[in-house]
Order: sequence, then structure tokens, then C-alpha cells
Amino acid sequence: MHAHQLQIFIFITSVFLILAHPSSCSMESFIYIGCTPLKFNPGTLYESNVNSILTSLVNSAPSTHFNNFKISLPGSTQADVIYGLFQCRGDLTNSDCSHCIRDAVTRLGATCPSSLGGALQLEGCFVKYDNVSFLGIEDKTVVMQKCGEIGQSNEYGGTEMVTRRDAVLGFLSSQMEYFRVGGSGKVQGVAQCMQDLSSGECQDCLSEAIGRLKDACGTSPWGDMFLAKCYVRYSEHGFSSKSGKGDDEVERTLAITIGIISGVAVLIVFLSILSKLCERKGKRLALSSISRIPSMNEELHMNKITLHSIIFSILQMVNDMNHMTNKKSE
Ligand SMILES: *[C@@H]1O[C@H](CO)[C@@H](O)[C@H](O)[C@H]1NC(C)=O
Repeated sequence: MHAHQLQIFIFITSVFLILAHPSSCSMESFIYIGCTPLKFNPGTLYESNVNSILTSLVNSAPSTHFNNFKISLPGSTQADVIYGLFQCRGDLTNSDCSHCIRDAVTRLGATCPSSLGGALQLEGCFVKYDNVSFLGIEDKTVVMQKCGEIGQSNEYGGTEMVTRRDAVLGFLSSQMEYFRVGGSGKVQGVAQCMQDLSSGECQDCLSEAIGRLKDACGTSPWGDMFLAKCYVRYSEHGFSSKSGKGDDEVERTLAITIGIISGVAVLIVFLSILSKLCERKGKRLALSSISRIPSMNEELHMNKITLHSIIFSILQMVNDMNHMTNKKSE
């Protein structure tokens, strides 16, 4: 039964490829969004400027991790001028950065329709536009802060957690780059400044963020401190799939997938036993009453087609489920 083994192999490989998808997509996990309460009128020059700046951000992202723009199409008044920037996390590839920005801009447009300004932070990237200039200006306003709950699944107890966390944050503040990573045992930290800051401003912003993060999160197993122009985060679980209840989502997806794999394996075994039985008997009992008995080749061919379409619909299902769990984790 070489054909069947091949099919099982292809199926399982596909499942893992699909499973691998969410983790490469976790850069698009949602962190925060803000829209200005003021709206612009549709059909105005302001709207054209917004569309133009969002397009510029998307077009620029494949080749750089940071860029900023000032857009005023001909005829714009001072109040119509729009400023915008994007910043990808420093460890993203150009292609991941580009995907992240594309996704961020789409979501920003959908969530803040007709807003004068808006900002969106995803796991891997940030976009913002406004008619008030914020480019090159340090801003240490707290935009989003979050601390993990202290629970049984924590790797380290209170004192060790704090010691390791403070060591990681201390290391981060001793670095010079816009993007910084560090770790102690399982505790990892990550920091990112917007690249429109000078390196001194970046340092100042991160110091503020680190101080606030320590104060806010105490012995929590993870914490996030997002200021307007920089952020610091630490976690016992790294930064690939974590966003609050991310771990549960991953486990659930895994459980569902394992269930499906075993279900399909049983189905495939069942089908192959069935077709073997049919082959052995030579003629099918059920079909013998039908006047035209299909040839053996045709039967096998039909079997394969059914199997393919079953596998295809299951793959489709797994894919849909992944989309659902991804959406839920936002
Ligand atoms: C931004 O747009 C609003 C609404 O048109 C306007 O009142 C405000 O003055 C603008 N801000 C700047 C800095 O131009």
C-alpha cells in the first residue's frame, strides 16, 4: 500500500506546515489600538492624505524596519497635513516586517474608519498616523501596561523571578541599539525604541519604561510596558506566541490537531482495509447488482479521489480552526 503511506505522509506533513503557520503569524498578535475620537469627512483631501500615508507605509516596509512620512497632497491646508511612521521589531526579517505592516494598516483602517489619527501595536510592528506631528519627538506617555498573574505554572518563585527579571532589564538598559534582547534562565526581555528618537532619547525612554515596569509588575511572570515611543517587555516564556492567554491557545490548537490526526489515521487505515478486502474478493458485492461494474483501475482511482477530497476538506477545516483560534487570541 505505497500510495496510502504516501498519502498519510503528505497529510501529516501538511498538518505540520499548517500548524507552523500560527507561530510565524504570531508577529501579528494584537497588543493595542487607539483611534482619535475626531473624524474626517469622506471625500475630502484629508481622506486622500490618509490613504496616501497608509500606502506609503505599506510600500516602504519591505525594504526597511522604520520609516516616517509627512504627506500633504496639493491643495492641503496646514490642518490637512498628516504625519505617519512605522516601526518593526528589530529581529523581524524584511518579509515578516512587510507582512506585519500590511496587516497592521489593514486593521487600523478597519478599526478606525475616518479617524483623524490612529495607532496600532502588534507583536512585531507598530504604525501610527496623525495630523499633529509626533515625528522625532520623545514621548514617554504610558500607552499600555500589563502584568501576568502570579500562578502555579511559574518557573521561578518570587525572589528568583525578581532577581532574574532585574538582571535582564539591567542588561537591556546597558545596551545601545534601538532593538535589544536579553535573557537569564527562562526569563527573556525585549526592548524597542522608535527609530525617530536619538540614541540618548531612546536611552531615556527605556529607563523610564523599565522603572515603571518593575514598579507595576512586581513578581509577575511576565510584564509589558508600552510608552508612546518605546517599550520594554519580559516573560518566562519568550516572545514567539505569548500574548496573555496565548499558551492556552497553542495547547488547544495542538489538542484539536492531534485529535484530527488520529481520527484521520483511523479513517485511512479503515479505508485501506476496506479497499484491500474489495480487491481480494475481486468483485464488489454491493456493486454486483449494478449492470456496469467499473474496472479495477477505475475503482482504485475513485477510491483515491474520495480519499483526496476527504483529506482536502479536513485540511480546510484545520486551517479554518487555526484562523478561528488566531482571531480569538486577539
Ligand atoms: C487636525 O485636524 C483637526 C480637524 O480638522 C483640526 O481642528 C486641528 O487643528 C488639526 N491639527 C493640526 C495640528 O493641524
